[in-house]
Amino acid sequence: MLGKNHTPDVATLFAEDAQRIRQFSLLDQAWLLDYSRLPLTGDGYGQLQQLARDAGLEAAVANLFGGEIVNPSERRPALHMALRADDPSSFPGADPDQCLARDRDGFLALAESLFNGDRGLTDLIHVGIGGSDLGPRLVSDALDVDQSAVRVHWLSTVDARRLDRLLAELDPARTGVVIASKSFSTEETLLQARALREWLGERFASQAWAATAMPERAADFGIDRAHVLPFPEWTGGRFSLWSSVGVSAAARLGRACFRELLRGAAAADLCFSGPDRNQSLALHLALLMHFLRRDLSAPSLGIVAYDPRLALLGDFLQQLVMESLGKGVDLEDVPLRQSTSPLVFGGRGTDLQHSIFQALHQAPDSHPLILAGVLEPGHGRDDWHRVQLSHLLAQATAMARGRDDERPCRRLPGNRPVMVLMARRLDARSLGFLLASFEHAVFALSVLWSINPFDQWGVEEGKRLAARFNTALAERGEPDFDDWLDLTNRGMRD
Ligand code: F6P
Repeated sequence: MLGKNHTPDVATLFAEDAQRIRQFSLLDQAWLLDYSRLPLTGDGYGQLQQLARDAGLEAAVANLFGGEIVNPSERRPALHMALRADDPSSFPGADPDQCLARDRDGFLALAESLFNGDRGLTDLIHVGIGGSDLGPRLVSDALDVDQSAVRVHWLSTVDARRLDRLLAELDPARTGVVIASKSFSTEETLLQARALREWLGERFASQAWAATAMPERAADFGIDRAHVLPFPEWTGGRFSLWSSVGVSAAARLGRACFRELLRGAAAADLCFSGPDRNQSLALHLALLMHFLRRDLSAPSLGIVAYDPRLALLGDFLQQLVMESLGKGVDLEDVPLRQSTSPLVFGGRGTDLQHSIFQALHQAPDSHPLILAGVLEPGHGRDDWHRVQLSHLLAQATAMARGRDDERPCRRLPGNRPVMVLMARRLDARSLGFLLASFEHAVFALSVLWSINPFDQWGVEEGKRLAARFNTALAERGEPDFDDWLDLTNRGMRD
């Protein structure tokens, strides 16, 4: 396998093979994946495919889609595919009566009523964090065509100033609230939810909803039971976009558009679980991310959107990849000797050219990138879109080819690993397909690395310590620096 120690010069690979671009690119439904600029040869990719076979990917996919326990530490299946299937009962373990049908029809019916203005609401505040925020906000941002009767305001991290400003401009009589929380116990979400409950007052019962896997906790919080939009516990938070957690996005996009998103994701499920998996975008992404992380030992992966509608793709993938693959032990609880998740970062294309691209071009460390773009602009300013596409191509080319110059400070070493993901057009179906493909790529990587992608025990200790520090800070009123240093010291010594 080619790797960090004997990495071929990519410009030479292109010079030697005029057909390289065809052999090292894949068109899977609406997405073109171009990995020709990676230091990979034909047999190198074949070896990656063999690796997947040797890791037992076939059986693992059958277990995933068969509703087997693929999340052993929480003894759960992971059936987020059932949430977007036309027939959930085709997934063993996904009991259609387990609120799936009601969940999808229930929350989409609510979303449609909000989208149409049937409830007289002009604004909807969605409060949630992590998977209860990122996916819905991404699809809402990407697909919004300003036809909804409600404006959606997304609250995630605790930002008192933001909340106060928002509540000052909204009318409680015309504002709905969605509390999105699988556990219905996330501190940041409940803190804001309590403020919203107080702000709505007696309207809370009629204008607040909860998307959660813990209906009883939502009811105890004061959510009317008819306004609880439950989803099954086997839905991972970062895989919950397809559940009632997506209700606010659906209120912005409309039922038909959200159903198209589900169908696009279901199409990716079909590709990944079917006989043509080797030609799927999902498996290509998995094997190439494995090549970058394990063969090139690249510590990071940048997701750069050269279409503003995909600006949040990096944030979404940051959680999906790092919370799924950022593990320290394997499925047998044996400490892992090899690297797992890369540090995923991301943002918008030309903005990042004015901040991090200098280092990405010339600093000694190499940080692989996935540049994502869309051929059709989705707006009327073709010349503006041409700027996006030309910079995408320019950056990918400069990263890979480099540039010689008699002055060393002007040289670009090139051979910086970069992949390009292009859609013909960005619509609900193509976006759903992309996001689900990345979900399956992460699952496939977890099989290659023998880890559980569906739990996230690493975040629990921080939550426990924060509760203790909160109590200690409350006892001190307005802390000064001495208090702060004392708390720091006690935190490390007690
Ligand atoms: O970051 C930990 C985590 O549990 C994520 O997996 C999840 O998406 C997020 O917190 C929010 O959790 P909940 O939806 O239960 O509020």
